Amino acid sequence: MTCFAAIILAAGKGTRMKSALPKVLHEIAGRPMLGHAMAVAGAAGAAEVLLVTAPDQESVRAYADSLDIATTHCIQEQQLGTGDAVRAAFSANDKHERFVVMFGDTPLMRSEVLAELANHEADVTVLAFEPDDAAAYGRVVLAGETPTAIVEFKDADAATRALTLCNGGAMGLSRAALAKYLPQLSNENAQGEFYLPDLVTLAHQDGATTAMVMASPEDTMGVDSRAGQAKAEALMQTRLRQKFLDAGVGMQDPDSVFLSFDTEIAADVILEPHVKINGGVAIGHGTIIKAFTHLEGVRIGQDAQIGPYARLRPGTVIGDEAKIGNFVETKKADIGKGAKVSHLSYIGDAELGMDVNIGAGTITCNYDGYNKHITKIGDGAFIGSNSSLIAPVTIGKGAYLGSSSAVSKDVPDDALVVTRAPEREIKGWGRKFRARNEKKDS
Ligand code: UD1
Ligand code: MG
Repeated sequence: MTCFAAIILAAGKGTRMKSALPKVLHEIAGRPMLGHAMAVAGAAGAAEVLLVTAPDQESVRAYADSLDIATTHCIQEQQLGTGDAVRAAFSANDKHERFVVMFGDTPLMRSEVLAELANHEADVTVLAFEPDDAAAYGRVVLAGETPTAIVEFKDADAATRALTLCNGGAMGLSRAALAKYLPQLSNENAQGEFYLPDLVTLAHQDGATTAMVMASPEDTMGVDSRAGQAKAEALMQTRLRQKFLDAGVGMQDPDSVFLSFDTEIAADVILEPHVKINGGVAIGHGTIIKAFTHLEGVRIGQDAQIGPYARLRPGTVIGDEAKIGNFVETKKADIGKGAKVSHLSYIGDAELGMDVNIGAGTITCNYDGYNKHITKIGDGAFIGSNSSLIAPVTIGKGAYLGSSSAVSKDVPDDALVVTRAPEREIKGWGRKFRARNEKKDS
C-alpha cells in the first residue's frame, strides 16, 4: 500500500446550512461530517491529513485536533476555489509521494473507494459517478477509458452538458502532478475560481497519465443544506442497520431504530421498534432492548432486559442478566449482575451490587444543588417501593428498606430500616367528614 496524505477541503462557508456551526461540524449518526471524512482517510491508510480551513474556522481545527489522526492545518486565506484550496495544502517539498483530495462534507465516502484512488499509479485519478440527475456536477470527458478533461457545468457547452459521467470531487494525485500543474491553474472561467478538476486537462495535455475510479452517487454525496444532511443521515442509518442485521442483531422494524457511528452490538441482541442509540453504547450478547428506549454512553452486559421506555444516560454500566424496566432513568450508575430496577426510578451516581432489587418509584437523591453524592447498595439488598436514598449513603448487603423510606444514614448488612410515620386509623372519619360538608352546602 502506498504511503499517502489525505488533503481534506473544508474551507467553504456552508451558508446554505443557515447555521452558526461550521458545516463540517454538523453531525451524521452522532459524529461531525469532518470526523467521518478523517476516519475514512485513516481507514484507507492515510499517514496524515492536511486539513484546509478558512482563517476563522478555529472550532473546526480544534475538533480535528481532538481526533487521533495526525493532522497538519493549512489555512486558505480566501475561498478562491478547490484548486486554490489544494494549493494551500501542498508544498513541493512534501515527503508524501501520493495524495488524495477529498471534501469534508461527503460523510458517506467509503474507505475502499478512497484507497483505490490513493493506490492508483496514474498521475491524476478522477473519482467518477453516474448520478440519476447529472444536475450541475462537473462533466468527465473521456477518450476511451481515459479522462481527458473535467468541465464544470457553468463552463460547459450543450454537448458537454449532455454527458452523464460526472466528477465526484475526490481525486488521487502524484506529488509530481501537484508540483507541476497546481501552479498552472488559472481562474479564467465562468466562476472566476481556480478549479481542481483542471488538473486533469493539464496532465492529459502534458502527456501525464490520467485514470478514473467509479463510485456510487452515495459515496460522493455532498451535504449543502439541512435537507441534504437529513438525506445523508438516512443513508448512514440504513448502512448501520444493515451492518448489525448482517451480524445477527434482530430488529422488527429496522427503519425505526437509530444508531450511532460508534455503536457496538453483539449477536442475538434484539432491538425493538423506536430505540434510539446515541454515542458510546455497547450491548452484550442476548440482551433485549425494548421499544422506545433511549441509550447514550452506556455499556450493557449479556442477557439483560432494558425498557420499554427506559432512558440510560452516560456512565451507566449494566451487568449481565440485569433488568431495567419502564420509565427508569439512570446516569453514572453501575448496576450489578441480575439486579432489577423495574419501574419508575431515578438511579444516578450509584453503585448497585448483584441481585439488588429496587422497588417502583425509588429515587437516588444525588444532588444538593452544588455537589453530586454517591449511593452504594450491597449485593442482594431490597429497596422498598417509593424510597428516597439521600446520598451520600450506603445500604449494606442483604439489607431491607421498608417502602416509602427516606434514608440518609448508612444501613448495615442484613438490617431492616423503616422510616415512614406510624399508621393511624380513625374509624368512621369519612362518613363524619362528608356529613359535615354536606350540611354546610345546603
Ligand atoms: C466540485 C467540483 C465538481 C464536482 C462536485 C462534486 C470543482 C471546481 N468542482 O464542485 O466538478 O462535480 O464538486 O460534488 O472542484 N472548498 C474549499 N475552498 C474553496 C472552495 C471549496 O475548501 O475555495 C471546499 C468546500 O468546503 C467543499 C469542497 O471544497 O467541501 C467542494 O467545494 P464546492 O464549492 O462544493 O464544489 P462544487 O461546486 O460542489
Ligand atoms: Mg459541493
